[in-house]
Formats: sequence, C-alpha cells, structure tokens
Amino acid sequence: MTSTNEELIGRSDINDLEAILSVTNKDVDALVSHVKSNYDTIFTWDYEKGARPKLNRLYEKAKTAQWNGETDLPWETEVDQEQVVLANAAQAGGVGAGMDVSGTPFERWTDKEWVQLGIESQNWTLSQFMHGEQGALICTARIVENVPWVDAKYYAATQVMDEARHVEVFAKYLDDKLSGHYPINAHLKLLLDDIIQDDRWDMTYLGMQIMVEGLALAAFGFIHQLTTEPLLKQLLRYVMSDEARHVAFGVLSLQDYYQELTAAELRERQEFAFEAAVRMRDRFLQQEVWDRMGLNVKDVLPFVMNSPERAGFQAMLFSKIVPNCKKLGLLDAGATNGKPGWLREKFTELGVIAFEDWADTGEEYEMFQLAEGEVAAAS
Ligand SMILES: [Fe+2]
Ligand SMILES: [Fe+2]
Repeated sequence: MTSTNEELIGRSDINDLEAILSVTNKDVDALVSHVKSNYDTIFTWDYEKGARPKLNRLYEKAKTAQWNGETDLPWETEVDQEQVVLANAAQAGGVGAGMDVSGTPFERWTDKEWVQLGIESQNWTLSQFMHGEQGALICTARIVENVPWVDAKYYAATQVMDEARHVEVFAKYLDDKLSGHYPINAHLKLLLDDIIQDDRWDMTYLGMQIMVEGLALAAFGFIHQLTTEPLLKQLLRYVMSDEARHVAFGVLSLQDYYQELTAAELRERQEFAFEAAVRMRDRFLQQEVWDRMGLNVKDVLPFVMNSPERAGFQAMLFSKIVPNCKKLGLLDAGATNGKPGWLREKFTELGVIAFEDWADTGEEYEMFQLAEGEVAAAS
C-alpha cells in the first residue's frame, strides 16, 4: 500500500530541479480548462441545525462578517508599483540586498533590473493568489454538494460567497493597480486538478481548506505585514479574516471524521497532504518570472533556492499547515514504537516540521475577525 515519491509526485528526489522545471503550463492562451470528476452529490434529510455546534457557530459568524469588495476597500488609492518594490526592498536593506551575486546571472544587474524583478514578482504573486481563489470557489461549491452534514452545507455556502469576493478583489487589484497578469502556475494547477479529481468529500477539504488555504493564510499574513501599500494591506486584512474561518472549517470538519478512518485510509490522507505540500513548494520557485526576466531558469534556481531569505519565506508558508495536520492526527498516524508517523518523516524531509507546535487554526479565526465598524456594508 505504500506509495513512493515517484508515484506521489512524479520524481524520487523531492529537490530534483530538472524534474520540477519540466512541469510547465503548456496552454497559456486557453480561456477555459475542463477537469473531469465523478463524485456523489449527497442530499441530507437531517435538517437539525446545530447538530455540529462548532460548525453552526462558524456559520453564524460568517453571516455577519460579509463585506463588499467594491465599497469596503479604498480603491481610490494610487499605487506606484516601483515605489512599492523599493519600499519592500528598503525593509530588507536595499534591492537585491544580502545576496552575494558574484558568479551568478545577476552579476551584471543594475537597480533597474532588480526593480523590474520586484514588479514581475508582484504581478506573478497576485495572479497566483487570484487563480488559487478560483480554485477555492470551485472546491467550496463542491463541498456544498458532497458533504453529508447540513451544518457544513450551510457554512460552505457562505464560503462560496467569500471566495467569489476574493477572486473579484484580486482580479480588480491586478487590473487596476498592477501591470500584468500571469497564467496559472503548472504546479498549482496540478494540485487543484488532483483535489477536484478525487471523489472523496473529505479530500476536497484536506486539499483546499487545510493545505491550499492554510498556505494562503500564512502567505497573506507575510505580505500583509511587509507591504506599506495601504490598499493591498487592507485588502489582505479583509481576505484573511475570511480565510481564517475557512481553515477552521476544514479543521473542525475533519477532526471528527478522521477518528472513524482506518490506518490505511489515514495513510492515503497523509500521502495526499505530502503531495500537496510539495506542489505548493514547487510553485513558489516562480519559474515563469525568471523566464519573463529573460534568464535561464536552470541557472538561476540553484542560487535562488540557496538564499537564506528564500528558505525562511518558504518554510514560513507551512506555519499553519503543519500544526493543523498535527491537530488532525495526520503527522503521527501509523507511528509505531521507534518509528515516527509517515507524514512527520516527510515534513522533516521538507524542512518544515519545526512548526508542529505553532498555534493551529481551529479557533484562531476569532483573532482575525474584523472589528465592528470595519465592515461598513454589513452594519
Ligand atoms: Fe479565499
Ligand atoms: Fe478561502
């Protein structure tokens, strides 16, 4: 029953650059993408509201936490992308600071190229957030259909609205304030397709609410802290207040369900979580940006991957995922005397196990809530 790295992620060495880079988006001009799936839609005739009190509470919270992407954000803000890049870089001590570039393709770069890299990275990052949000929109609509509990269907319906709003605001920000879109990164698309093709309802949750949204919450938090651009700061603040609820929805729903699963079934969940983690790590190599900057990706990446800031950023992306997997029992499921759980070993291999004792997101959404008055439209 045990799957190898080869079977799970298509390569035996998780750091095999050649293999990572061979995965590219081959159809960047397509306007739609079809994914086949074959899952059961479940009606429930048990309408007892609050049978799952924590989900019911989350649903009630969501109803009063709606905001309006058009009217609650300061869209009149002028955004000077170059200034934003310089301000971000100033915090790090200057553009390209802290990197020894001698003997690398960056050797001859002037400030102009570094600023351009910053601008492209922003366009890329926000584009991928937007695509990921559409993934969330689709997955959550699916959960309305295939989760068996009425409290979860109710809650998921509110999340569908949240995700529509998130796609909307990221798309508007890209169109009105930035300077170009990127198509979806192939690793992110692989992951979304895998989640959608799986017909088991709890896998939709694990892939989206725990893995993709857990990473998004960490990444949004990082950029929210870093950026001095007031519109993006507020946009991320609002989106995060929703995302924290979404991750909580995943944790609260799966916690009970996983108690009922067999060791073999849990192992499949562990493998799925690992595969998702690798796909998400691969996508953050932002191979399309290097391409657009006219650099040979293969020359650049060994250098980029070894830069200390990068390692820190990348690891930080897992700061929500690892504690949440632990809370769900996935880290140590299948552990025997002297042998750690499979996912614990894999997260150790990925270098992210240190986050296991950070706060999980089961209740953290309270902390992210918007204050009264912040949501003008809902009052
Ligand atoms: Fe979202
Ligand atoms: Fe979300």
